[in-house]
Amino acid sequence: RVPAPKNEPVLSHAPGSPERRELQATLKRMSAEQLEIPVIIGGKHVRTGKTDTVRMPHKHSHVLATLHEADAGTVEQAIQNSLSVKEDWARMPFQSRAAIFLRAAELLATRYRPIMNAATMLGQSKTAHQAEIDATCEAVDFLRYNVHFAEQILAMQPENSPQTWNMTDYRPLDGFVFSVAPFNFTSIAMNLAVAPALMGNVVLFKPSNTAAYSAWYIMELLREAGLPDGVINMLPGDGPTVGNPVLASPHLGGIHFTGSTPTFNVMWKTVGENISRYKQYPRIVGETGGKDFIVAHPSAADDLEALAVAIVRGGFEYQGQKCSAPSRIFVPESMWPKLKPRLQALISEIRMGDVTDFRNFMGAVIDEKSFKKTSGYIDLAKNDSGATVVAGGEVDRKEGWFIKPTLVQLQDPKHRIMREEIFAPVVGLHVYPDSKYVETLREVDAAASYALTGSVFARDRKAIDTALSELRHAAGNFYINDKPTGAVVGQQPFGGSRASGTNDKAGSLLNLTRWTSPRTIKENF
Ligand code: SER
Repeated sequence: RVPAPKNEPVLSHAPGSPERRELQATLKRMSAEQLEIPVIIGGKHVRTGKTDTVRMPHKHSHVLATLHEADAGTVEQAIQNSLSVKEDWARMPFQSRAAIFLRAAELLATRYRPIMNAATMLGQSKTAHQAEIDATCEAVDFLRYNVHFAEQILAMQPENSPQTWNMTDYRPLDGFVFSVAPFNFTSIAMNLAVAPALMGNVVLFKPSNTAAYSAWYIMELLREAGLPDGVINMLPGDGPTVGNPVLASPHLGGIHFTGSTPTFNVMWKTVGENISRYKQYPRIVGETGGKDFIVAHPSAADDLEALAVAIVRGGFEYQGQKCSAPSRIFVPESMWPKLKPRLQALISEIRMGDVTDFRNFMGAVIDEKSFKKTSGYIDLAKNDSGATVVAGGEVDRKEGWFIKPTLVQLQDPKHRIMREEIFAPVVGLHVYPDSKYVETLREVDAAASYALTGSVFARDRKAIDTALSELRHAAGNFYINDKPTGAVVGQQPFGGSRASGTNDKAGSLLNLTRWTSPRTIKENF
């Protein structure tokens, strides 16, 4: 058995460091070329001619790639191809499958590191640090830890008696897995595909069109690591065009999804409509939206700086586009006079712009659709007498989809900005009377339908315990005196319940168990 892995160390990319020089050279080289990203079926590149353009969010005149979208014919071809390679892959010894993904981890930690970081910076507008913790470190961690978790699962075997031999055969699902990825994490996109594949499943991988640039490099990395053709087929394109025929296939074995709650709901309904067609009940695993919170207790006043930094980093790193980003903040009245100017100062220091300028802390939001939606929420805040824009509130679409980090104070803790997922750098904040801590916790629990992440800041142990108990079902990932973003594989298994998903904890053994359909074997001697 391989020893438990260690989390991949985060490189600083400090000025003058070798990794910064390498990344800069890679950014220069990659932004000067234009890619043609095909549909990938059985290792073959299929150019459908139905194309979309992939652009830099922070410089939308710059086209990075032409993307070929899958159509009905290519989706059918991909399904047939997956089924044709399924048995060979399922029968490959676990050690051989594991070796491919461990080799991918090594390649990613070394030669592919600047490539994946650059792809995530250019295509998804992450800063170098945000790209490093995602596209390299978290992705490497998923690859290595998944092998470790899978070994633990395979080692779980039943008891024997003198006359019988019992064993569990950890079969893959009897069909293919449909992996549907979001734009916001390259590592999540990769894990959605590789976790089921490691357990012996074939995968139809649908990246987000807005992250197809890094998805292309994920496929290149896996190919170079030795993944056989067809084990993961890539189908970029329009949701219903790809999703409907895939979800109607009798061979659908499972869904591994990260994305919006409405899309996930549509997928469940489609599965329901097709239920009598399937050979088996598909496994449905999804991580969806969030309306993540930070609640400060008056006893957190001792360390106001930690709270202020958590709000700013949590809310605005990667433009607030992490599903874990806190977007509703509750602070006690006694703390607000000191906290408000500190937040305003921190936010005014934030540099935003082209992410290839390493001094910038924020880039652009992903696309025009997000820009328009977010601008709408900012207008709502400006025109509402119960709302005060404490910081930010400006947008600029000339070169890129830029939204200034925006903090809005709301009198009503149930305001739309405190309940609806915006998925951008707009954070709502409500000031509550110090005596109403418990009532506030109950409001936090009741006001949003989501339950992904949340934090409580307090020094008083009783206040922490009260929050843990009042908010028991309000967050799948609960942080005490820390921001609610940045879950580390193996350390904070990630996922939420309620409208935030099925809580099958990515980055833990629990997720891997979803991709196996165990057979119990008893032999009498
Ligand atoms: N895993 C990420 C985080 O914790 C969110 O998907 O920030």
